[in-house]
Amino acid sequence: MLRQAGIEVTLGTLAEEATSLNKRFFTAIQLGRPYIILKWAQTADGFIARPNFDSRWISNALSRKLVHKWRAEEDAILVGKNTARYDNPVLNVRDWAGKNPLRVVIDHHLRLDQDLHLFDGTIPTICYNLHKHLESDMLSYVQLDEASFLPQLLQHLHGRAVRSLMVEGGATTLADFIDAGLWDEARVFNAPACFGSGIRAPQLKQATFDGKEDIAGDTLTYFVKQ
Ligand SMILES: NC(=O)c1ccc[n+]([C@@H]2O[C@H](COP(=O)([O-])OP(=O)(O)OC[C@H]3O[C@@H](n4cnc5c(N)ncnc54)[C@H](OP(=O)(O)O)[C@@H]3O)[C@@H](O)[C@H]2O)c1
Repeated sequence: MLRQAGIEVTLGTLAEEATSLNKRFFTAIQLGRPYIILKWAQTADGFIARPNFDSRWISNALSRKLVHKWRAEEDAILVGKNTARYDNPVLNVRDWAGKNPLRVVIDHHLRLDQDLHLFDGTIPTICYNLHKHLESDMLSYVQLDEASFLPQLLQHLHGRAVRSLMVEGGATTLADFIDAGLWDEARVFNAPACFGSGIRAPQLKQATFDGKEDIAGDTLTYFVKQ
């Protein structure tokens, strides 16, 4: 009608940029799950932690600040049991301004100490497990089946209108998402430090290089899933 009225009409303007801008929404509509971003920091010799589970001093202060900015941009952050246990992360937004995302932890057999920051009741948190179901405002335990644990977890988050999930580790948890093909984007910090031994960083599969940048000496590489 516009054309018939003599008005010049252009279609598909900035289509790629528009798709990227709305990637969380499109993933929810098309795949029925949150948009998944994998994130980790690895040493120059390919480790994400020392043999004693210490993963401090890999990435630099600016890289860590950037991670806080990213947290403020996503709806939820997930960690595995060992990361919860050994790092005792708060998983909030401290070094940036913005909302705290939902905290998510996988602890199949409920072995985590309830004194950990994750269970302090200050930020909405979900612990996915195989044994207990108890939903409440700040801290929920959600029981899933072992056979389809990750798909069910994502379905549950989708049901709570979580449109994006950043998986922050550790290696086992990241590898599970990679093996299941359940990821959309990966952001990997490569730092100059060498550990010599420890927990190996995960290996991406079906990944396409999507650019890199220098973060004060760390190299941040972006990948998207093919
Ligand atoms: N450099 C980095 O960017 C970075 C980031 C995060 C963590 N880290 C380091 O990584 C280390 C921990 O890594 P990790 O690989 O030992 O542990 P992890 O991934 O944190 O936790 C692994 C455990 O979580 C449970 N789990 C979580 N998701 C699972 C799934 N989908 N399938 C099966 N089990 C799942 C399993 O225990 P249950 O069966 O008992 O539940 C498994 O043993 C820590 O030292 C931490 O400091 C480094």
